[in-house]
Amino acid sequence: MCLMSFRYNKLVQLNMELDLNMKADLKLMIPGPTPVPEEILEVLARPPIGHRSPEFKEVLKDVYSNLQWAFQTQRPVYLYTASGTGAMEAALVNVLNPGDEVLVLSCGVFSQRWAEIAKELGLQVHLQEAPAGQPHDVGKLETLLKSEQGKTIKAVCMIHNETSTGVINPVEELAKVIRENSDALVIVDTVTSLGATHFKMDEWGVDIAVSGSQKGFMLPPGLSFLAVSERALQAHQQCSNPGYYFNFTKYEKGIAGATTPYTPAVSLIRGLQKALEMMKAEGIDGTTQRHLRNRDMVRAAARAMALPLFVEAEAYASPSVTSIVPPEGLSVDAIRAGIKEQFNITIANGQKDLTGKIFRIGHLGAIFPRDILMTIASLEVVCHQLGYSKAPLGAGIAAAQEVMIRHA
Ligand SMILES: Cc1ncc(COP(=O)(O)O)c(C=O)c1O
Repeated sequence: MCLMSFRYNKLVQLNMELDLNMKADLKLMIPGPTPVPEEILEVLARPPIGHRSPEFKEVLKDVYSNLQWAFQTQRPVYLYTASGTGAMEAALVNVLNPGDEVLVLSCGVFSQRWAEIAKELGLQVHLQEAPAGQPHDVGKLETLLKSEQGKTIKAVCMIHNETSTGVINPVEELAKVIRENSDALVIVDTVTSLGATHFKMDEWGVDIAVSGSQKGFMLPPGLSFLAVSERALQAHQQCSNPGYYFNFTKYEKGIAGATTPYTPAVSLIRGLQKALEMMKAEGIDGTTQRHLRNRDMVRAAARAMALPLFVEAEAYASPSVTSIVPPEGLSVDAIRAGIKEQFNITIANGQKDLTGKIFRIGHLGAIFPRDILMTIASLEVVCHQLGYSKAPLGAGIAAAQEVMIRHA
């Protein structure tokens, strides 16, 4: 065979390989949207049914009841046709009046979003910031609440799992200190913690909690959930401008009649029924353990590969997403592109100030050891292709395997 035709054949073979490889499932190893299991996809593919039909009423009854289980609350949970940010806005607009003072515990891009929404709504925002990669300090919050400034605060907004850095906050302790030192409402973003770890709305004294479909609930984007305490509902009754579409009163009535105020995302809600059934079958303890195993496999692999972890301590390392600092000389873009092009796996970049400084491996929702092993092996290949030599090929995968065996 002449050299020209050899090269041509090799090229055709490579293209075919790439083509076939790309037909392999795209694996989303990002902290949302997360992979949607086949059982749920099958339900989502069914033709829509009438949203006022008796059949859909039965679906809603089931979903409303199981959402209470997911949030661990005796109170109803509202179902919004909106992404998580819609529910965040609903949380503030329904219980606060322009000019009210709110304290935002900010530790990254998503917790900071509370402050952005509050400003748009004409609220006075006080910030208590934790450095990126660190959780909030309960003592610092207590001191602020006991100060003159603390006395006028109507609500404290916080995040359970900060997706932009990979930190989990001690919500139970933070909520406790608020309840003991103030009358402020406790408002929590549980967008990437629900379905990954324990969250106990009633027991922890949380007044409003919001979450979204495309994370631990293993669904496509499009739904958000809002759990609301009796105290928050009372604050809603004093609210001068609660808005129309997200108005709590309408959703309370909707739930009481096993319906929704407006046309909901019928197909997604049927998918949610299936997702909640699957979540209940695994149980909150089971889901929590699986996410901790996912997290520990990734963290052990990073350490074995001598890649710095952005969040150092296990005590506040997220069960949903792990941030890793790229080694010197290797860019986040090159690592992400290599993994995507050769393995059809997506991992996330850092956000805002952390863009290009960290990459994030999501392990949230329907993610299992097979997915982690595949991702770590791909990461090792790509790092070595890019010239990384601080750890031998296979060090990361062996460490992840060991964690998996130990956790079993
Ligand atoms: C913790 C957290 N809160 C809020 C949001 C915003 O949710 P959405 O993009 O669904 O509006 C996200 C999105 O990733 C998130 O991770």
